[in-house]
Amino acid sequence: MNTTIKYAGIILAAGSGSRMHSDIPKQYIEINGKPLIYYTLETFEHSVVDEIVLVVRPGDEEYVQREIVDKYGFSKVSSIVCGGNTRTDSVLNGIRASKAEFVLIHDGARCLVSENLIERMAEAVLETSCIAAVPSKDTVKIVKDGLVVETPKRENLYIVQTPQAFNRNSLLKAYAELDKLSDEKRRSLTDDAMIMENARKPVQIVAGEYSNIKVTTPEDLDFVKNIKKY
Ligand code: CTP
Ligand code: MG
Repeated sequence: MNTTIKYAGIILAAGSGSRMHSDIPKQYIEINGKPLIYYTLETFEHSVVDEIVLVVRPGDEEYVQREIVDKYGFSKVSSIVCGGNTRTDSVLNGIRASKAEFVLIHDGARCLVSENLIERMAEAVLETSCIAAVPSKDTVKIVKDGLVVETPKRENLYIVQTPQAFNRNSLLKAYAELDKLSDEKRRSLTDDAMIMENARKPVQIVAGEYSNIKVTTPEDLDFVKNIKKY
């Protein structure tokens, strides 16, 4: 088959979820009878993306295929690939598994993402790289050794979320620039926009959603349980 794929959702689920302090990785924790990652996949399945690449922990591929992708019939999942030690490595494995023109990289742990946000990202990436973000409601301080050293202007502060959307070739080129960085600097990259910033490429903000939280600690699970009660 020679169909061109415009948009791929790269869903990251290869983390260990250490801050959740759970016996199983947080992406598999059941919320109202279904694993957390189910809700993320369900929204992407119904969204404008043409395919979904699911990035999982090495060794989890078969389990995820059988117990999640086949069981719930997620027909847009075109491949399940294994992630790496860092989020950045997982992203790279995911984008290499796709031939799409544009990639929408998304934290599997953000299971409350909406189809509308995915659609707005897909629209905006036609112009330039973009990230979902919301204005910080709180004042943020720079602190060193327990002492406040600076208070950045709140109007300049945004809380960054995913999806983060890029032209796949441009992102791969930006990834190549990481080879010049020290290991320490590489490890400090916490999102995909930083890879474009490092390559001095523009990244635009798209209005995110305050509900689009990254499930990280146990109280986040209660929040999701209440919203997904239907
Ligand atoms: N992730 C990944 N590969 C990694 C690390 C993280 O695919 N090597 C994914 C996680 O599965 C998650 C998303 O990236 O969906 C955001 O990461 P985070 O919330 O930090 O998840 P974990 O790394 O699993 O959690 P923790 O940092 O608490 O260990
Ligand atoms: Mg992490």
